[in-house]
Amino acid sequence: MRSHYCGEITASNIDAEVEVCGWVHRRRDHGGVIFLDIRDRTGIVQVVYDPDTEESFATADRVRNEYVLRAVGRVRARPEGTVNPDMATGEIEVLGRDLTILNAAATPPFQLDEYSEAGEDVRLRYRYMDLRRPEMQQKLEMRARVASQVRSYLEENGYWEVETPTLSRATPEGARDYLVPSRTHAGQFFALPQSPQVYKQLLMMSGMDKYYQIARCYRDEDLRADRQPEFTQIDIEASFISQEEVMRLTEGMLRQLFSSCLDVELPDFPVLAYVDAMRDYGSDRPDLRNPLKLVDIADLMQAVEFKVFNGPANDPKGRVVALRAPGGAELPRRVIDDYTEFVGRYGAKGLAYIKINDLAAGVDGLQSPILKFLPDDVTLKVLERVGAETGDVVFFGADRAGVVNDSMGALRNELGAALGLTQAGWAPCWVVDWPMFAENKDGTLGAEHHPFTQPTCTPEELLAEPLEARAAAYDVVLNGLELGGGSLRIHDQKMQAAVFEALMMGQEAQSKFGFLLDALQYGCPPHGGIALGFDRLVMLMTDSQSIREVIAFPKTQTAACLMMSAPSEVDEHQLRELHIRTRKPAGD
Ligand code: AMO
Ligand code: AMP
Repeated sequence: MRSHYCGEITASNIDAEVEVCGWVHRRRDHGGVIFLDIRDRTGIVQVVYDPDTEESFATADRVRNEYVLRAVGRVRARPEGTVNPDMATGEIEVLGRDLTILNAAATPPFQLDEYSEAGEDVRLRYRYMDLRRPEMQQKLEMRARVASQVRSYLEENGYWEVETPTLSRATPEGARDYLVPSRTHAGQFFALPQSPQVYKQLLMMSGMDKYYQIARCYRDEDLRADRQPEFTQIDIEASFISQEEVMRLTEGMLRQLFSSCLDVELPDFPVLAYVDAMRDYGSDRPDLRNPLKLVDIADLMQAVEFKVFNGPANDPKGRVVALRAPGGAELPRRVIDDYTEFVGRYGAKGLAYIKINDLAAGVDGLQSPILKFLPDDVTLKVLERVGAETGDVVFFGADRAGVVNDSMGALRNELGAALGLTQAGWAPCWVVDWPMFAENKDGTLGAEHHPFTQPTCTPEELLAEPLEARAAAYDVVLNGLELGGGSLRIHDQKMQAAVFEALMMGQEAQSKFGFLLDALQYGCPPHGGIALGFDRLVMLMTDSQSIREVIAFPKTQTAACLMMSAPSEVDEHQLRELHIRTRKPAGD
């Protein structure tokens, strides 16, 4: 039907006859001459119809935005003064000879150029229109290129792509499961996998040696800009592999992706211990483009009378930190109030600060609501420790360590951006030496990564002091986003049983993971791997604000598809076949 894509016609085609197909991007009537901008996925070309070509001119007169056309004509240089340097095809135009309307289009629900005014709900409802926008097409093209590079990199390294089921059993990644009722087994349900974790380990036990999959995962959890209920992982597992080897393989892959798809050479990947990341950044996924650091000052605050500080300073589970913001003394009161409200969202009960108007003047050069509560020598020691200078502001957080880390870590990100301190570019890192478990609010333990992760101690030590246990787990972080996580896995039945015991999963473990405990007896190789969030990776690589921008048909923040109206009710007959009676929430 066509000889050329619209965006690929250049001055080298001048005088050639071309046939293009696409959508009407814009139609302009310039007193007797009609200009059609015709668009396909490669770009836009301008086709001109004049009244000499009577029939085609009449057709051109009838078309409207988003009509689907086939245009035939001769390429010519644009007249002087009408060259458009912003357009790839801006030097030429096509003098139309023939024009066929392949399909008409109703008035679009929003103009493609005005998508931002349309709002995301409208864009998602008419996603097939939204995806016509060049920006969206470029993002999906990038996604396809990244996937293709992932495959070639892993295949060159000896990895086999193996598909694993999506009708499965509950998997232990910590979110709620999506369930699928079984018709053939009344009252029973499949779970959609939260990741292929257990299957990939079973593949190692099957001797596959090196596995990968671009795998769909399902998690029913609270959604955010970087989370979707169904998302894609680059899932990797290998046998007889060390932590360093998994890290090197992953780093190599990311380097190749960035270099081939973006022409970017990634810098070194510094390796941070989990405790150091928490200490310096209050976060296990620090954005290293931001130079700000939290500084512990509990030792200086133990003896002060100010309760807000001395309480957490003397509590082993407490933390007191200072965060120096260079140049921040100029922040107006209103902005500091906003920051106080901001840290409040993370549970902080306040945000003390000291503005350094003139360091040389000692405490007289300072401005702060807490000066009166602190001995002068303590105040000056704090300023010295954080390296404060005239013109800075120093913020303080004092609370349980978790609250301080969450709130001051988040404030660090805010300040880095607001004060222009966060550099452009790419800052990857590894976070290693994770704790095996974390304490839940109710005092029970949860696996920090997942229960198949190899602890670095013996089963006896693990059970004696579970919160002290470290794991051979590693996360890869890019620009403050958790891109991926993995670990070496338990390949010893006794250790696996000990971890289940520490998690108080005794009976439950037997019924849920009995097959795995069994499989561990039949010759399980040492193995390990990692999974990277594919959507998150493409989101970063395309500089998108939300993961929804790089997924063709994403769900909304409330986990629904507006275009298809899914989820939806189903008819009574279907429910009966599935042995299900629905219970409407009260009030419906
Ligand atoms: P984990 O749970 O850390 O590990 O997931 C790996 C990566 O998947 C991405 N991710 C998500 N992306 C979008 N939406 C979500 N809801 C979502 N949840 C997770 C993140 C995350 O780093 N089986 C283990 C991996 C392993 O041990 O090999 C796992 O799934 O980028
Ligand atoms: P208050 O005595 O509660 O008025 O607090 C005095 C100052 O300390 C105010 O500037 C508060 O914002 C700040 N503040 C209160 N609680 C905390 C906290 N947990 N961490 C840091 N600053 C706090």
